[in-house]
Amino acid sequence: MKTVLVIGIGAGNPDHLTLQALKALNRVDVFLLFDKGPAKHGLNDLRRDLCTRLATERPWRMVEADNPPRGPDGDSYAGAVQQLNDDKQRLIERLIADEVADGQCAGILVWGDPALYDSTLRILQAILAAGREVFEYQVIPGITAVQALAAAHRVPLNEIGGSVRISPGRQLSDALGAGDSQVVMLDAHQAFNRLRGQGLYIWWGAYVGSADEILIAGPLDQVADQIEHVRDQARLRHGWIMDTYLLKRTLP
Ligand SMILES: C[S@@+](CC[C@H](N)C(=O)[O-])C[C@H]1O[C@@H](n2cnc3c(N)ncnc32)[C@H](O)[C@@H]1O
Repeated sequence: MKTVLVIGIGAGNPDHLTLQALKALNRVDVFLLFDKGPAKHGLNDLRRDLCTRLATERPWRMVEADNPPRGPDGDSYAGAVQQLNDDKQRLIERLIADEVADGQCAGILVWGDPALYDSTLRILQAILAAGREVFEYQVIPGITAVQALAAAHRVPLNEIGGSVRISPGRQLSDALGAGDSQVVMLDAHQAFNRLRGQGLYIWWGAYVGSADEILIAGPLDQVADQIEHVRDQARLRHGWIMDTYLLKRTLP
C-alpha cells in the first residue's frame, strides 16, 4: 500500500513546524512539490529548506511539477477553482502512480494547515473516489496564518463567548455583530474598506512569521489608508503578497 502524508508546515516561519510534522518528514520517500511560478518561489524555498535540514533520518527524493495555471474566474469563482482542482487532481494522481512505489510514502507539504483554504484533501479524496489509484493518507495539522497572525499581534481571536468567522475577502459581510470576530484571508481587494465608518478595530499582517513580516493594528478608520499603502509597496517589492486580518467591534 502507498501512503500519502499531507503535512502542515505552518505559515512562513520554519519554527512553526510541529514535532508530529518533523516525525512525518522523516517517514517520506518522495516529496511532491508544486511550483506556482516565479512569484511564489520563496514558498517552495522554505519547503526545500525544511526537507534538507530536517528530513535527515532516511534517503528521500523530491519530485517537482508545475502547478496547473488557474483560469479566469469568469462567471463563477467556484467554477474556476473546481477547474484548477480537476487539473491538479490529474497531476497528483499521475505523480502518485508514476513516482511512488508500493510500500513507499509520499509527502505533500501544505502551507499553514491542510484543512484551511487548501484543496489537497479534497483532491486526494477525489483521486481515491475515481478508483484508479489506491493509497492511504494521513493529515498532520499545521499552524495556520490565522493563529500566526493572532500570536504576532498578541490578541485573542474571540471575544468571551463570541464567535469567530473566517472568510475570503469576497465574502466579507458589510456589518459585524457585537462580540463577533471576523478573520479575512485571500483578499486581493482590501475588502476592509467596505467596513470603514463602523468603529471597528483591525489587526493586519503580511508575510506573518517570516523575516519580511509586517504588522499594523489600530482603529480601522485610522489605519486603513496606511495598510493600503504599505500593502501596495510590499506587493511591488516582493512581486506577491499574503496578508490576513482580524476585525472586531470591541476596542482593546
Ligand atoms: C490558500 S490560503 C492558505 C491558508 C493556509 N492553509 C493556512 O492554514 O493558513 C492563502 C491565504 O492564507 C493567508 N496567509 C498564508 N500565509 C500567510 C502569512 N504568512 N501571512 C499572512 N497571511 C497568510 C493569506 O490570506 C493568503 O491569501
